[in-house]
Amino acid sequence: MTNEKARPRALVTGASAGLGEVFAAKLAKRGYDLVITARRKDRLEALAETLTFDGAATEVIEADLATGGGVGLLEATASEVDLLVNNAGFGTVGEFAELPIERELDELNVNVRALMRLSHAALSGMTERGRGSIINVASTAAFQPIPHNATYSATKAFVLHFSEALHEEAKPRGVTVTCLCPGPVKTEFQEVAGVDESSVPAIMWTSAEEVVNAALSAMDVRRAYVVPGALNAMTAVGGRFVPRFVTRKVAGAFFRDRAPR
Ligand SMILES: NC(=O)c1ccc[n+]([C@@H]2O[C@H](COP(=O)([O-])OP(=O)(O)OC[C@H]3O[C@@H](n4cnc5c(N)ncnc54)[C@H](OP(=O)(O)O)[C@@H]3O)[C@@H](O)[C@H]2O)c1
Repeated sequence: MTNEKARPRALVTGASAGLGEVFAAKLAKRGYDLVITARRKDRLEALAETLTFDGAATEVIEADLATGGGVGLLEATASEVDLLVNNAGFGTVGEFAELPIERELDELNVNVRALMRLSHAALSGMTERGRGSIINVASTAAFQPIPHNATYSATKAFVLHFSEALHEEAKPRGVTVTCLCPGPVKTEFQEVAGVDESSVPAIMWTSAEEVVNAALSAMDVRRAYVVPGALNAMTAVGGRFVPRFVTRKVAGAFFRDRAPR
């Protein structure tokens, strides 16, 4: 017989880069065994080799979350884990009518449909066991519609509203759902979206480290959502007191100047 407590297990999507990589490293340090997923398997395998604290076990699953089949590869795992971090996502910038529709639909599939299916699988297991946590990654883009970033801001608004609603449903069942709403963070995100990061004012950046720490602290105290960084939090809250036509015009002007030409 052994007295050793079973290690908790976490599934982190989008772990091949940026915030997901930091989530994986911090959770391994917290004593979680990990399942990490993304499309770039080589990156995941390299990361897995570094996540060896106190004998942590890391499983790698290659999956494209823009496809139904890719999400299907993860649902059984999601239903078993103690923590799900729905982090995978990407943005597109430009005038909607001029952006390729297939990429916009992939964005909807990764940012919304995959997150929704994995949340459903995880919550059914967690509510049955009476414990568990989900962190869904939205953005400060969730707080207002953004012309020239229309699909992205709409997907993240979905993630925020959906997560807050799930938070209330899950809380009495012993399960925590926390939505992370970061402002700009230097990751591969800007390159993928085709945005020149030098066009974002220095004061607006938050580090990946700070963002992930804020998410885990918010989860620990069972918060519904968190906006890391004082300026981002002020902007997100402040927007509520400004007429919607003003926030969308200001946000649109900011993104129009950053759209790839
Ligand atoms: N960085 C920011 O400024 C910022 C701000 C607010 C919110 N966010 C949000 O933070 C989350 C993480 O972004 P990040 O900044 O870390 O960006 P990143 O460095 O570009 O990482 C994105 C991750 O998502 C994965 N991913 C993208 N498309 C995928 C697909 N079709 N199937 C499976 N995985 C996919 C990527 O893996 P593969 O390419 O290997 O598949 C990668 O691991 C996203 O939800 C993003 O919207 C970022």
